[in-house]
Amino acid sequence: MGLMHMPGDFLNEAGELHLHGKVIGLSGEGVVGMMSSIEGNSDLSKLIVQRVTKDFAGLRAVDDVSLEVRQGEVLGLIGPNGSGKTTLLNVISGLLPVSGGHVLVGEIDITGWAPHRIAGKRIGRTFQTVHLFGALTVLENIEVAAVGVGMSRRRAGERAQSLLEEFDMERTAALPAGTLAFGQQRRVEVARALAMQPHFMLLDEPAAGLNERECDEMLGLLASVREKIGCGVLVVDHDMRLIMRLCDRIHVLNYGRTIAEGTCEEVSQNPEVIEAYLGSAEEEGEVVSA
Ligand SMILES: Nc1ncnc2c1ncn2[C@@H]1O[C@H](COP(=O)(O)OP(=O)(O)OP(=O)(O)O)[C@@H](O)[C@H]1O
Ligand SMILES: [Mg+2]
Repeated sequence: MGLMHMPGDFLNEAGELHLHGKVIGLSGEGVVGMMSSIEGNSDLSKLIVQRVTKDFAGLRAVDDVSLEVRQGEVLGLIGPNGSGKTTLLNVISGLLPVSGGHVLVGEIDITGWAPHRIAGKRIGRTFQTVHLFGALTVLENIEVAAVGVGMSRRRAGERAQSLLEEFDMERTAALPAGTLAFGQQRRVEVARALAMQPHFMLLDEPAAGLNERECDEMLGLLASVREKIGCGVLVVDHDMRLIMRLCDRIHVLNYGRTIAEGTCEEVSQNPEVIEAYLGSAEEEGEVVSA
């Protein structure tokens, strides 16, 4: 789980990350997707996906999708396996180029920007599989993200410490992140995305692999994030209980296309959504219930 690491990995006083014997600058590829310097000040109240299409050789993974996330709002992005959810998050965060369409923050068109520059627009994210630096301490993992958006090492350390307190994880601060239980690693990922004081957070299956208790904890955590931080959240998950409890609105993809959008109630009663889920449940022998 997580990235490969070596015993000599560390974050130094200047905020440089030493990984695999190399010094990684603030926009180095090892930390891609979560950091950069702060860029400009303009209207950042909406994250806008405008008619985005993403093709992989012969496969249209995302097909003409448009959505908006406002600050302070939680938008759920759901759909059967392979429906394009992760691909869309990767396009928004700049890890994949679009094949068509645009991504905007307020009036700024960020389409085609490098991931670190997009992160500099305060768009944080977590990954479907945990992406922590296993040999760095929990505290350092969080600090890295704060340093990456321009905080001094000292301020980043304070911010990381206060996030750990908020998450009731102070006791883990000095432990190598790779030694934590899986559920705790997921929480550290959320803390790390928050360390950069995001205007928007993209969460790719924050509850994946969690047991029921851990899932409840994650739900509580995300609900408190929403209350305290007020950033816009785009959350992908297959756990419908989490989605229904957390989201103001839901956007549904199937085979890369939008098949429904609306309130939790509207979406859960939509015949096309029920059909898409029942279809995939029959294939996989599982049933998704609200
Ligand atoms: N790098 C890639 N190259 C080629 N095809 C890809 C690539 N990444 C994803 N795909 C394909 O694009 C489609 C959408 O995949 P994606 O991972 O976005 O789905 P998802 O909705 O996140 O699924 P899941 O719920 O299983 O995570 C799938 O058919 C997948 O196989
Ligand atoms: Mg996915």
